[in-house]
Parts: sequence; C-alpha cells; structure tokens
Amino acid sequence: MDNLISFESFIKIRRLKVDTIELNVKQLQEEILDLKKNCDVTILAHYYQPIEIQEIADFLGDSLGLSQIARDKANTEYIIFAGVDFMAETASILNQDKHVLIPNYESCCPMAAYLTPELIKEFRQKYPDLPVVTYVNSTAVVKAESDICCTSSNAVKIVQKIKEEFNAQAVLFGPDANLADYTEQISKIKTIKMPENGHCYVHSQLTIEDVRIMKRAHPKAKVIVHPECQRSVRELSDFVGSTTQMHRYVKESPSEINEFIIGTEKGFLERLEVDFPNNNYYLASDKMICYNMKKHNLELIKYLLENLVDKNFEIKVSKQIAEKALIPINRMLDYS
Ligand code: 13P
Ligand code: SF4
Repeated sequence: MDNLISFESFIKIRRLKVDTIELNVKQLQEEILDLKKNCDVTILAHYYQPIEIQEIADFLGDSLGLSQIARDKANTEYIIFAGVDFMAETASILNQDKHVLIPNYESCCPMAAYLTPELIKEFRQKYPDLPVVTYVNSTAVVKAESDICCTSSNAVKIVQKIKEEFNAQAVLFGPDANLADYTEQISKIKTIKMPENGHCYVHSQLTIEDVRIMKRAHPKAKVIVHPECQRSVRELSDFVGSTTQMHRYVKESPSEINEFIIGTEKGFLERLEVDFPNNNYYLASDKMICYNMKKHNLELIKYLLENLVDKNFEIKVSKQIAEKALIPINRMLDYS
C-alpha cells in the first residue's frame, strides 16, 4: 500500500518525464545545428522521419524530390540521409565523389527485397521487347539491370514515356505490385508485375474496413492515400499521390475543407500538423508506421556529425554498379 502513489503525483511525474524528453530534444537539436556550422554537410530527410529529425533537416521531401536535391543542391562533401537505405544509395549513385552517410544502417525498405537482378533477367527472357521500369524502392544492383526508374510521384509519366521510347505494348514493372496496378489504371498501359506480390508492409495492410471506420467517425474528412495502398483502398479515397503530392493537395484545399484522413506513414501526418495547423488529421489506421524509417534518431545524427569519417555509416555503391544504375536514375530525372 505504501508503494502506491496518488493519481495527481502520477500525472505530475509523467508530465515531468515528458518535459525532460522535450528538453532533451531541443538541446540535441541545438547541439546538432551548432556542430553543423563547422561541417561541410547537408542533411536530407524524408517525410516519414520523426518530426524532430525533419526539423533539423536542410531539405525535406519525397523520394523524387530528395533525389533531385541530392543531384542538384547538395553540394557539400558529406550528405547525411535520414531515410531508408535505397534513398541513401540513390543519393550516393548521384554523388559518387561525395560521402553519403546514413544515421542507422539498419534502416532498410523491405519492399526492395522482392525484386532481384535474377528475376529481372527471367522476365527479360520471357518478354525481350518490353522495357524494365523499376520503382526507386529497390537495390542498386536491381537499378543497374533496369531501363528506367520511377517514384510514386512520376510512375504514370515514366511508363508513358518509356512505352513510347521503346514502342512497346506493355512494361515490366517492379517491385511494388500496388504501384504497378495504380500506374496501369491511370495510364491504361499494361504493367507486368515483377513479382506478382511485391508490396509495402505499411501501406498494403490498410484495409477498406479501416478506412470505412474512419470515414464513419469523420464524415466530412477527405481521404488521401499513397499509391502503395491496395486498389480497394485507393478507390475509397478522394486523392491518391506521393507524399509531396498529398502535401500539395492539403495545401491547395479550399479553407472549408479542414479534416483529412491520412493513408500513409505517421511521420507525414506530423508534417501536416506543423505546416497546416488549422486542419484536423486522422491516421487511417494506427498500423501506418514504418519502423524502418524510425530507426534514426537525433543522438545518431549528432554522433555522425562528430564522426563524419566513420566508414561504418557510409553508403557506398561499387563504381561498376553505380555507373550502370546511374543511367536509369538519370533517365527518370530527365523525364520528370
Ligand atoms: P514517396 O516517394 O511518396 O516519398 O514514397 C516513398 C515510400 O517509401 C513510400 O512508402
Ligand atoms: Fe519501404 Fe513501405 Fe517503409 Fe516506404 S513505408 S520505406 S515502402 S517499408
């Protein structure tokens, strides 16, 4: 009995803990920004990063935006990439003379494992006339075997362009079968999926039942989802797009629309809350968390800034693979 504390004391202690964490975050952010002043470094962060990392980044964006920035604007000797491995790899391929560092090298995108160079070769043998379109959520060796890359924001345009360039009837598309299906629906160009079942564990687990529950609870809210969601979910939504496209949709919505159900990763919802605080946002399901994206933290970024030469955190693609992979990435950037 003596060990029990009153409810008021419990709340006080909890508040104190939250305050301490917030203080630590602010302090770490200041230390990072101070350290950064003396380093030749650019910090890039994806929208799915924890908000405290987004806040200290030089540039924020979706996969396409971050590759464009890596190519055109990150002209420092070091780039710290707060995103998953394929994003840092792409930045490294685009900047072979620079050092691209990832705060936690265990931050990977499991979807990339669905497509291998061997699988691409099998499909090429079966369909020798069709171009290979690879979603950037793939490994560098897979990109090296591809004709062109795409992201969720430009997949439709890329498929249209490459079909024309190859004068083909269809395209080979991998690894995300949901993005392939979305691209086929919009472009009316057949996408042969490599493989049939490649998917993102975060987006593909969102069900129509999850969305219906949220719509019942918030009938006036607009539903916005990522194209990595299943077709049934996309068809229930008001808007489908990449993270940057969804950000623009919210920004450009008339003022009377101020509720949004978010069918993508939670970090993006946190971004919207900061950028457009007058709206209400509801995560379409509490399963929408990419644990791989959340493996970075401020302590790791601070460590990197103090140890930029630590090779354990450098993402380096071999010259031979990087030169081959650069061709489909640049082709995509030129078409975007
Ligand atoms: P975006 O290109 O929309 O940023 O998406 C990347 C991603 O990994 C989605 O799950
Ligand atoms: Fe990969 Fe999905 Fe995470 Fe995006 S949300 S990085 S596709 S696992």
